[in-house]
Amino acid sequence: MSIAKSDFKKVTTNTVQEMKRKGEKISMLTAYDYTLAKIIDSAGIDVILVGDSASNVMAGHETTLPITLDQMIYHASSVIRAIDRALVVVDLPFGSYQGNSKGALSSAVRIMKESGAHAVKLEGGVEILNSIQRILSAGIPVMGHLGLTPQSIYKFGTYSVRAKEEEEAEKLLADARALEEAGCFALVLEKIPAKLAKRVAETLTIPIIGIGAGGDVDGQVLVLHDMLGMTHEFEPRFLRRYLNLFESIGDAVKDYVKDVKSEDFPNSKEQY
Ligand code: KIV
Repeated sequence: MSIAKSDFKKVTTNTVQEMKRKGEKISMLTAYDYTLAKIIDSAGIDVILVGDSASNVMAGHETTLPITLDQMIYHASSVIRAIDRALVVVDLPFGSYQGNSKGALSSAVRIMKESGAHAVKLEGGVEILNSIQRILSAGIPVMGHLGLTPQSIYKFGTYSVRAKEEEEAEKLLADARALEEAGCFALVLEKIPAKLAKRVAETLTIPIIGIGAGGDVDGQVLVLHDMLGMTHEFEPRFLRRYLNLFESIGDAVKDYVKDVKSEDFPNSKEQY
């Protein structure tokens, strides 16, 4: 059932912060195109992330590193044209913000101006604080992202659980505090122990949105194509699949091929 347009109250960065204060969980999913963004916005998703996972899901790259700022703007503009209610957050891609706060601001400004997005997300802690502060100084809302940060895959070497050891856990907590103090409106924690994510959610006042970070946080995010079962090679423990679209779409295509070959399609009613 979709929600009538008149019942929609636009979700803002203030709304998600209010949701944390009230104890209402925040739902977030990725989208990269108009059609799926329209469906999930109509279904009542709170936040849509135009993730740089588009690099894997849409373009078939092995990592998120190759996607460009222009490509992120293209995906974000398509999503923005579809939505009535959700807050739309866009990933700044690899190479567009690290080590150069002026460059970071100009990347964030391009996303906001050219796509109409509502906020940006950056991966990393104190090492990118200058970039975050500069973007925030322009009035652009920033969502942080700590734990497994896929843009640093060649530094980590694997996609395994992060911050299992005390030292890395303490660094993550210090980074989270620094991001909140800088003015980030929310924070994604990816693939870290549930106990640590709970500690961060209890320590910080901004919403913590988890992916593979357990249930004791303020909201959850999944990659839409994973939870719909369109992708099928990716099987992390944290992923709940709500559909198996890989199979359903494949079956529909097989039926179509059969109908075309057998001349069952089109029939007399399916023509002019
Ligand atoms: O790019 C992405 O999809 C993400 C989520 C996994 C949080 O950053």
